[in-house]
Amino acid sequence: MGSSTASCCVLILLYFFTLVCLSFVRLAGSNQTATLAVNASGGKPIPDTFFGIFFEEINHAGAGGLWAELVSNRGFEAGGPNTPSNIDPWSIIGDESSIIVSTDRSSPFELNKVALQMVVLCDSQDGNICPAGGVGVYNPGFWGMNIEQGKKYKVILYVRSTGPVNLKVSLTGSNGVGELASTDIILSESDVSDWTKVDTTLEANATNHNSRLQLTTTRKGVIWLDQVSAMPEDTYKGHGFRSELVEMLADLKPRFVRFPGGCFVEGEWLRNAFRWKATVGPWEERPGHFGDVWKYWTDDGLGYFEFLQLAKDLGALPIWVFNNGISHNDQVATSSVLPFVQEALDGIEFARGDPTSKWGSLRAAMGHPEPFDLKYVAIGNEDCGKRNYRGNYLKYYSAIRHAYPDIQLISNCDASSRPLDHPAHMYDYHVYTNANDMFSRAHIFDHALRNGPKAFVSEYAVTGRDAGKGSLLAALAEAGFLIGLEMNSDIVHMISYAPLFVNANDRRWNPDAIVFNSYQLYGTPSYWVQQFFRESSGATVLDTTLNTTSSSSLIASAIAWQNSADEKNYIRIKVVNFGSDTVSLQISIDGLDPKSLQLSGSTKTVLTSANVMDENTFSQPKKVVPTPSRLESAAGQDMNVQLPPHSFTSFDLLKESINLKMAGTDSSTRSSI
Ligand SMILES: *[C@@H]1O[C@H](CO)[C@@H](O)[C@H](O)[C@H]1NC(C)=O
Ligand SMILES: *[C@@H]1O[C@H](CO)[C@@H](O)[C@H](O)[C@H]1NC(C)=O
Ligand SMILES: *[C@@H]1O[C@H](CO)[C@@H](O)[C@H](O)[C@H]1NC(C)=O
Ligand SMILES: *[C@@H]1O[C@H](CO)[C@@H](O)[C@H](O)[C@H]1NC(C)=O
Repeated sequence: MGSSTASCCVLILLYFFTLVCLSFVRLAGSNQTATLAVNASGGKPIPDTFFGIFFEEINHAGAGGLWAELVSNRGFEAGGPNTPSNIDPWSIIGDESSIIVSTDRSSPFELNKVALQMVVLCDSQDGNICPAGGVGVYNPGFWGMNIEQGKKYKVILYVRSTGPVNLKVSLTGSNGVGELASTDIILSESDVSDWTKVDTTLEANATNHNSRLQLTTTRKGVIWLDQVSAMPEDTYKGHGFRSELVEMLADLKPRFVRFPGGCFVEGEWLRNAFRWKATVGPWEERPGHFGDVWKYWTDDGLGYFEFLQLAKDLGALPIWVFNNGISHNDQVATSSVLPFVQEALDGIEFARGDPTSKWGSLRAAMGHPEPFDLKYVAIGNEDCGKRNYRGNYLKYYSAIRHAYPDIQLISNCDASSRPLDHPAHMYDYHVYTNANDMFSRAHIFDHALRNGPKAFVSEYAVTGRDAGKGSLLAALAEAGFLIGLEMNSDIVHMISYAPLFVNANDRRWNPDAIVFNSYQLYGTPSYWVQQFFRESSGATVLDTTLNTTSSSSLIASAIAWQNSADEKNYIRIKVVNFGSDTVSLQISIDGLDPKSLQLSGSTKTVLTSANVMDENTFSQPKKVVPTPSRLESAAGQDMNVQLPPHSFTSFDLLKESINLKMAGTDSSTRSSI
């Protein structure tokens, strides 16, 4: 009997236990709960430099991208194993019976001696009549020139001839048909017996995203051409940058621009490394160089000066990465590195020296007498493990410290887990990995050394299968990582994604933040994630306590920041739900003075999509982008919000002062927090 009563009790208990278990399983399977406590008083300042960008000349990011020059290989100098000839991609209009094209070394420019020679055999007044449209050469630009109706294009070229010249300059469709603009350049024999600069402006009467520039003639004779440029008149601040690409950068409010690489700085071989002196001065005189890591020629129109100008135009600090006598395959011995050290010192003088100094005067001659705000330089890129790194580094370090005591020096050696064996102000941290690993690295700096140099996470991205060509999954993992860095911003002083740009016609590295071709562009989800952090620089990171049953798939941070546009104070709470369940999150905000402050005017911005592998494309550029809305429940000290699976959400709460608001004085409603 006893035993049957006991079994009955067990059965009843089992029944209830199962019910409890079942309901628990159902809850866990469908929705999860979590709490986030934010302490709105106190917190730690985030460095003003926290969020920035890293520009590398990779994927035709600059040449054929950010730099608006339409002509590729304007001096006929291109070289390198991937280049069929040094005039590539220039091509000939006409056949051997009418024109013979070759190069010689007769250019007036000392550092780029190659010029193009056209021997024209046909003549409209002769028995050998030129084909309709004439003969000559054309340049297709970088996979087609984007020519737009009503816009003006400045064409400059250098010409010489043995007789009078009648040259037609035209913008046409990709096959030479469909003229969008043209002008005739008529010069007498005496005009062109020596090299002459020709400067003309074409206005397009139609739009073609895949145009080419043609230089043609119907007159017999020998014509030399060199340094042919076609620039849109409409560039960012008139500084030669492609406007809509810079606007994507400006929207990120970057506080620094690290440039120009990356491996581009190192080169496979030192002879192909980026050397700043070859990239400054008049564009016609720059030799250009073959970037052997990313395997393309650049005319270096986007040179050291232009990078400094770009940073200034974005309101960002320039961070110059220079070669420290080390490439991927060869190295300068420390005992002979001093000329390289001097080159770096000269580069700093160029950026910020007095306009009467040797290199400062060149900057002034280029139109910028005021110094640029160069405060950070990086000694090499990813060279820590190389034999001569420490030796060379110390030579640079002591020379720059001595000449410019205020400049902050960045080492390539990761000091997050062990102290450096050399002095530095900051150290590079680079990470390219899968999504789960990236998400888990949110905590990588939790235990990093606090008393040494500060960390510069100068390159990070999810790569490989998880990334596709820029997936939501990759972006969410990066968002989690960045939240972790924000919470560690006492030690992590700078962060930048890599790479920034890809010209879709030369995807050397995948994925990238901004994808473009001659006329289209879009941000990948990784680009949009960065926008959530653009207010973090100079903000205050608040103490938060996240309590969650959903293991480790949630991460959150909160910042207090002031919007410079409306001068109002906000709290921004960012949460990544990296798991596949909806999470019901209870947010409580403590530390606000309830008598004088309230939260209102609040918005929610969500980045998510139906599938974690969703991407943006030229045809669907806004498939995965942040969606702002008003908060469903009235904002207050306590809020209950739903976080969709695989999502990144930010909540922006306006902090308002109650008393002053009731007084109705608009300008004094700023709370003093
Ligand atoms: C789960 O969340 C959804 C919306 O996010 C809600 O409609 C539903 O009631 C929740 N279910 C449970 C069991 O809490
Ligand atoms: C919030 O932070 C302040 C300042 O650091 C501290 O004095 C206070 O105890 C914190 N409040 C809570 C609830 O942790
Ligand atoms: C545009 O101008 C060219 C001359 O440069 C002319 O041949 C062409 O017909 C014009 N096209 C249109 C659409 O007006
Ligand atoms: C976290 O949540 C659990 C379960 O709801 C609760 O027992 C615990 O007290 C919470 N911890 C904190 C620090 O709020």
